[in-house]
Amino acid sequence: MKYNFDGRTFEIKRYPSTTNRSLQPWNAADELILEYISDLSDEHESIALINDRFGFLATTLFKLQPLSVVNYKSHQKAIERNYVSNSLVLKSRTIKTPLKSLPDTDIGVIKVPKSLEAFEFYLQILHRSLKDNGVIVCGFMTKYFTPQLLEISSKYFEEIEQSKAKKKARLLILKNRKEIEHQVVTIDIKFGDKVYKQYPGVFSSDHIDYATQFLLEHLTVKESEKNILDLASGNGVIADHILHQQPNAEVHLVDDSYLAVESSKMNVNESAHFHWNDSLESFKDETLDLVVSNPPFHFEYETNIEVTIGLFTQVQSCLKESGRFVLVANKHLNYKTHLDKLFKTCSITAENDKFEIYECLK
Ligand SMILES: C[S@@+](CC[C@H](N)C(=O)[O-])C[C@H]1O[C@@H](n2cnc3c(N)ncnc32)[C@H](O)[C@@H]1O
Repeated sequence: MKYNFDGRTFEIKRYPSTTNRSLQPWNAADELILEYISDLSDEHESIALINDRFGFLATTLFKLQPLSVVNYKSHQKAIERNYVSNSLVLKSRTIKTPLKSLPDTDIGVIKVPKSLEAFEFYLQILHRSLKDNGVIVCGFMTKYFTPQLLEISSKYFEEIEQSKAKKKARLLILKNRKEIEHQVVTIDIKFGDKVYKQYPGVFSSDHIDYATQFLLEHLTVKESEKNILDLASGNGVIADHILHQQPNAEVHLVDDSYLAVESSKMNVNESAHFHWNDSLESFKDETLDLVVSNPPFHFEYETNIEVTIGLFTQVQSCLKESGRFVLVANKHLNYKTHLDKLFKTCSITAENDKFEIYECLK
């Protein structure tokens, strides 16, 4: 999609791409942020962008060399691709993962995420690096507003201003940072006789997801299954269970979220292999004996199974001839129709009133 800004036409695309035309690479909240920042900033100011999911702001504001804090590998790829397709040069130091400290910052931007826990975590990152006279701009669609955004913001800032709504989007402008100390706090989840740890914003922080629990009740790893992947691994609870059943197996974990992968390193034996990625590009075809997954289908406020089906297709290629794919899903998603097309056989091996477990053979 084309966007005109600052005398130039930018071509901005989503990554991963979608055939759903209602899913756009930016929305009115991004436009409002851009308008505000371009009135505010001069070329010498340092800007940090958080959760700019498809790199709309990173690309349109390229002249200011903003720094992007990136949790999702797919976010990083979106920025890289949009820079290339607009013939821009991306400096390697302009992308940072969320556990790295930021340089002193004049303007922090947060595209408000769905998870309030993630919002607070992002706010903390910026609060730590913001100069005393710095400002934080948070953009969101008004339908997603909750007073908790104000409550959380007021823990860190004295002044909170709300902009007027424009095209159903609004900004929170935070100024005058409070002098408070805070550290990265992890969340504990007790499950069985173990306490799992995870960073804020990682999937299901109140409890181990019920679909995952159902999957683990029914998962038996065979002695012959030596090369195993926990796909979309979150905090690593599935990989941990696999390693308890087969301590000598070579277990891999893949997740698009950096904070999920870093969380899983706290929960899973260090002999496992941790991959921060949104695809199986680092696995060769026909190398895996078993892939286990509670796959994603929600992406912030969007429900989109294109990414999920894309992952299933890659699993099919990476499995050995004798390999199997075991996954759990909400019944209403009706994955069987898609899995039947990709795999030689696909059967439902367990179900309850909410979830189904599928076993697919290559
Ligand atoms: C339903 S959660 C499951 C997490 C964990 N396995 C569990 O059972 O608690 C799905 C996970 O998929 C991850 N994810 C989303 N898109 C992905 C992709 N393209 N590749 C790998 N992981 C992805 C999300 O970050 C999230 O951690």
